[in-house]
Amino acid sequence: MRHLIDPTDLSMQELDEVISLALDIIDNREKYAEVCRGKKLATLFYEPSTRTRLSFTSAMMELGGNVLGFSDAKSSSVSKGETCADTTKVISCFADIIAMRHFEEGAALVAALNARVPVINAGDGSHSHPTQTLTDLLTIKREIGRFDHITVGFCGDLKFGRTVHSLIKALSRYEGVKVVLISPEQLRLPSYMKHEVCEQNGIEYKEVATMEEVMGELDVLYMTRVQQERFDDPEEYERLKDSFILDVDKLRGAQPHMRILHPLPRVNEITVEVDNDPRAAYFRQVENGKFVRMALMLKLLEWAKDESKTQPLLPEGVERNTRVCSNRRCISNMENVDRLFRPSLNGDGSWRCVYCESKAK
Ligand code: CP
Repeated sequence: MRHLIDPTDLSMQELDEVISLALDIIDNREKYAEVCRGKKLATLFYEPSTRTRLSFTSAMMELGGNVLGFSDAKSSSVSKGETCADTTKVISCFADIIAMRHFEEGAALVAALNARVPVINAGDGSHSHPTQTLTDLLTIKREIGRFDHITVGFCGDLKFGRTVHSLIKALSRYEGVKVVLISPEQLRLPSYMKHEVCEQNGIEYKEVATMEEVMGELDVLYMTRVQQERFDDPEEYERLKDSFILDVDKLRGAQPHMRILHPLPRVNEITVEVDNDPRAAYFRQVENGKFVRMALMLKLLEWAKDESKTQPLLPEGVERNTRVCSNRRCISNMENVDRLFRPSLNGDGSWRCVYCESKAK
């Protein structure tokens, strides 16, 4: 079975196939109108969503298939205490493919470990959001034309921003990518992303305090919202929420070909006047999300029938139940699942949780 839990679950060749298929769908919509007739997508959304859930729904409808699911866990048997593992086993009886968003980090991996159909991670807590990454990559392809030798500035909440983590992981596989990290100190990129993703893959990165000082260097400026729902301390959110606001003035130093991306929703981190600038690509990005999800579902359904496409869900050297994850939002600390750990890639002798990549206690 094939799933998409992490952006790097797709090989470079498979990623190319998904992007190429999305481009073909854009050019030949009618050719794909019936290809999923009789297929059912289940959207299991334990957390709010506008774009991801509705773009999955729209994508399956455009392919001629049907959609079932829930958009609020309170309306499902989750409210009676059903676990993520059991819910996934049950939904495997009803649907051909599952898209799951969950507030617990690692929930999509638990789902994949228990499902009999492909599972797509539609966002797990602040950990990962691989279909947003596919959306971002398709947008970069269409707007900039390449993934290699680009400089991407990530601005805002780089700590809790799962779309940032996933996109940096995906870009780390390309030659000559430079990453500029623009955030308040409290919302910096997690250390595993810097040491195990950027440094391990030879990605050049730097941390800066303002967007103005780097604006002219960027091919892509990836703006993000400060994620209020992830803060334990509401006062800290109040202190940080207006840290970075992109306005027309700040854009003056940007190159003409630079593109502004944002996974959305926006709160106030981009002023509405910026929407009129041709470099603002975030609403075009939303539409790309539908096309790339159409392509992804088609590929996963095709690969589900191919034994050679089966993927190992767990890395080599996994230890079970020998440690405890330090992240209280990790599913291993919230539900009754095996606690899974792998050695850290930086060779410092520490262990990381397989579900959420946080350090073991
Ligand atoms: N970008 C994104 O994930 O948006 P939603 O939360 O609306 O799905």
